[in-house]
Amino acid sequence: MKAAVFDRFGGPDVIAIKDVPTPELGPSEVLVKIDSTCVNSADSRMRSLNVPTGFKLILQLINGPFRPRKRILGVDGSGIVIGIGQKVTQFKVSDRVLVFPGISMGCHAEFMKISESGLIAKIPEQVSFTDAAASAFGGTTALLFLRDQAKLQARERIMIIGSTGAVGSAAVQIAHHLGAHVTAVCSGKNKELALHLGADEVIDYQTENPYSPSQKFDVIMDCVGNSSLSVTQKLLTNKGRNLLVVASLPDMLQGAARKLMGGPRVISGDTFKLTSDTLDEVLSLVEACVFRPVVDRILPLDKIQEAHRLVDSGHKKGSVVIQISASN
Ligand SMILES: NC(=O)c1ccc[n+]([C@@H]2O[C@H](COP(=O)([O-])OP(=O)(O)OC[C@H]3O[C@@H](n4cnc5c(N)ncnc54)[C@H](OP(=O)(O)O)[C@@H]3O)[C@@H](O)[C@H]2O)c1
Repeated sequence: MKAAVFDRFGGPDVIAIKDVPTPELGPSEVLVKIDSTCVNSADSRMRSLNVPTGFKLILQLINGPFRPRKRILGVDGSGIVIGIGQKVTQFKVSDRVLVFPGISMGCHAEFMKISESGLIAKIPEQVSFTDAAASAFGGTTALLFLRDQAKLQARERIMIIGSTGAVGSAAVQIAHHLGAHVTAVCSGKNKELALHLGADEVIDYQTENPYSPSQKFDVIMDCVGNSSLSVTQKLLTNKGRNLLVVASLPDMLQGAARKLMGGPRVISGDTFKLTSDTLDEVLSLVEACVFRPVVDRILPLDKIQEAHRLVDSGHKKGSVVIQISASN
């Protein structure tokens, strides 16, 4: 099968399209023909080892100290089940599915295999493969941070920094759906998009200082990681929650120390408690048109370096989708 492979860490040019063996199915595994997958910020980080302070060594332990052990990137994908192991009971050939192998990766390929007990969910009929793939990374992160961790309530005030990327664009829509008052921070060119997604107010970080608003927030969600914890903590109410979607190790330690001091909670960490139920929930939100995944562009597999360059810029809108095969 064709796959986008990387054999060393580095810039987008380390990615090459190669022929590799199609995965062999184990008894409890499902083989998926990938229709659409995304190049996410996670792929950029795994490829380049450009991660927040303190996490480079951890990433190298996960995927190899000198060369990548897992050569095929791609944390999410949508497609059709084309094979099942003899013990598989929940999926059948021809099911439309969303898979989210996360750091196990492997979706930037024509085929990938996943355990039926892994992060795999059936895609509702009305949801396209493109939307399913584009919903996974941002949708699950936003749902877990906002609903499960921050327990965002109707009429609470939230500021979302980086509100038009994959995570931010999902977060604006989900926060709006939960009934919160959303202040979106993005560049001026994305103001209309943020308002369209459901923001009540927009701060253009290129012309205004987002950190001196006149009112306090119940929740701040930082999807960029360039704000200082001591600055954002001061913008929060006493029962506020500071969501560090991007957190360095020192930030995480500082957040833990602040827990002892009381005041606004600092919440960081990786995608907590992600299960296939969360994937089902995200897909239901897409089906109900509550969450419309933003797609920056759709590129073929042989343009994957271009996709990585766009992701590396830090200024994509929503998701960059790679269409591998057209199953629709
Ligand atoms: N902890 C977790 O579990 C978890 C899960 C998923 C992702 N993440 C992390 O979350 C981050 C965001 O991911 P993503 O996929 O959403 O990234 P993304 O799609 O690349 O989005 C980045 C966004 O940040 C905006 N931006 C850039 N500079 C900004 C600034 N100074 N102020 C405000 N906005 C700014 C960009 O908008 P403009 O073009 O308007 O500047 C862009 O929309 C990544 O670092 C990723 O590693 C963490």
